Amino acid sequence: MSGPVVLGIESSCDETGAGIVRDGKLLAHVVASSMDEHARFGGVVPEIASRAHLQAFTPVVRQALAEAGLRLGQLDAVAVTTGPGLSGALQVGLAGAKTLAYATGVPLYGVHHLAGHVAADTLEHGPLPEPCVVLIVSGGHTSLLLVRDLVREPILHLGDTLDDAAGECFDKVARILGLPYPGGPAIDRAAKAGDPDAVAFPRPLTKAGDDPYAFSFSGLKTAAARWAEQHRLRGAELPVADGAAALQEAVADVLTRKALRACRDHDVRTLIVVGGVAANSRVRALAEQRCGAAGIELRVPPMTLCTDNGAMIAAVGDLLVRSGAGPAPLNVSIDPSAPL
Ligand code: KG4
Ligand code: ZN
Repeated sequence: MSGPVVLGIESSCDETGAGIVRDGKLLAHVVASSMDEHARFGGVVPEIASRAHLQAFTPVVRQALAEAGLRLGQLDAVAVTTGPGLSGALQVGLAGAKTLAYATGVPLYGVHHLAGHVAADTLEHGPLPEPCVVLIVSGGHTSLLLVRDLVREPILHLGDTLDDAAGECFDKVARILGLPYPGGPAIDRAAKAGDPDAVAFPRPLTKAGDDPYAFSFSGLKTAAARWAEQHRLRGAELPVADGAAALQEAVADVLTRKALRACRDHDVRTLIVVGGVAANSRVRALAEQRCGAAGIELRVPPMTLCTDNGAMIAAVGDLLVRSGAGPAPLNVSIDPSAPL
């Protein structure tokens, strides 16, 4: 006998995602992004994101159903991101999800966006080894989480960035180095020809007495700008590859150092890394090396599940339905700044 079919909807930022999961297995995974529409503004414009969700919602859901070979009437539950995120963007997804749930007579489940990122890994690697430490690193998040029981206990927020997210740091430094947007992949590529020891970039918040789990990346951006300026004043050509390699090394060092510290402090044997920055080759290599040395299992889901998507929300919905958790009332609202 098969379990319930759960449709997941994600619309917290610039991706409209619909995914379908049954018994922890991924049946469909469709994402439409409005990223290109925001590019010329240098960041996500909330009004544009909301309108793009409105346009993409039905086609994306329809495509997900087609991918799974299912009809709307065959859904057993709808799960939707209620926060955190952009309020207008969240409202479009929630209104659409409520409509589907009401029209088909199935229960609606509200899902915390970060719980979705955590659950994404289960679609690739199977049930979550709990407890586990999760490092979420993207253009919007830099969070270190302790997950004891994803559906029954609140996720423990160990630390966050005090200023820029890790991906934002890559994007801003790339601009300083004259590399294209998005900066993360460009820095990753340029760094291959550079020397990571060429520039002694700082390792923010790693001194004794600093918060062991908090991050700060705006200082790195300032250090990179100063380094570039010194070259410019001397009329010297900027050694872009060296700058990229050194910056990447600093970010990878800080991220993995703190993530491993969290595993050690909480006696956890599994580290999960998700988000766009999990694609970074040095972050991956250093995480593998340090986890290997510490006897910690490292799980990194494939990139399509790392970035914002509906499948990860369906994954949480599926766990909630099977755990017997009660659904949300149909008057549930969004929570743009939802705490964990
Ligand atoms: O998760 P994501 O696709 O989108 C959100 O932020 O929601 O993450 C995008 C971020 C961007 O800042 C991008 O520069 C960064 O992930 N990124 C990378 C790499 N690929 C993407 N950063 C470093 N190295 C990469 N290879
Ligand atoms: Zn996200």
